Amino acid sequence: MKIFYSKTKEEAGKKAAGSFAAVLKSKPDAVLGLATGSSPEPMYLSLAEMYNAGEVSFAKARSVNLDEYVGLSADHDQSYAYFMRKHLFDKVDIDLANTNLPNGLATDYAAECARYDALFDSFGGTDLQILGIGLNGHIGFNEPADEFTKGTNAVKLTESTVKANSRFFASESDVPTMAFSMGIGQIMRAKKIILLANGKAKADILETALFGKVTPSVPASILQFAADVEVYADEDALSVIIEKHGKDAVIY
Ligand code: GLP
Repeated sequence: MKIFYSKTKEEAGKKAAGSFAAVLKSKPDAVLGLATGSSPEPMYLSLAEMYNAGEVSFAKARSVNLDEYVGLSADHDQSYAYFMRKHLFDKVDIDLANTNLPNGLATDYAAECARYDALFDSFGGTDLQILGIGLNGHIGFNEPADEFTKGTNAVKLTESTVKANSRFFASESDVPTMAFSMGIGQIMRAKKIILLANGKAKADILETALFGKVTPSVPASILQFAADVEVYADEDALSVIIEKHGKDAVIY
């Protein structure tokens, strides 16, 4: 695992975008596992800039997003489908027909999970998986649990996640309480993983996940077993890692 230090989240996003673009350059039809949330935003911004400068193309890429809220349509401004169009898909040359997210309006949860699993399998897994990390160590919407999830699942969100995500909704009661999420088993099939984290609030969980016990009660801790993980984080998010493990724990 390589942990890259950046002073700011913009710098972390730029570095991550460089690594992302390198995957697309070596494999233009790469399968991209994409993530939403504030963590990957600066990276998507840098990728859009690189696209405008002719430095990267998504024309042949295919994407599978990690998760989607149950109950929100793709047009809802808090749906992850909407987020992806706003922050990336509408800004680059990706073919929307090649982009995929769970369908938030699906009412037969088991059927939707099976559909997404079949899609994932037809791609043979992802070449690159982007991840943020929740305050409780969740990745995608895989919440702390007794075991690691394998495939796509319909998840009941924890109170802490609903609270954390309420900042984007008019009130906490508007926040969906369920989501579809790719499973940890699917995330771990990625050939390469980029984890993004910014801000003081992520400092403790980032240290616990990357240096603590590997346990489903901290879902992101499984990344310690992944073959190729790059972490791009700002100074604040890395503060506990540097304090406990020294400056050599990170790459400047
Ligand atoms: C959300 C998403 C995750 C994301 C996490 C952190 O609940 N489902 O994929 O990584 O929370 O979000 P943020 O990057 O906004 O802190």
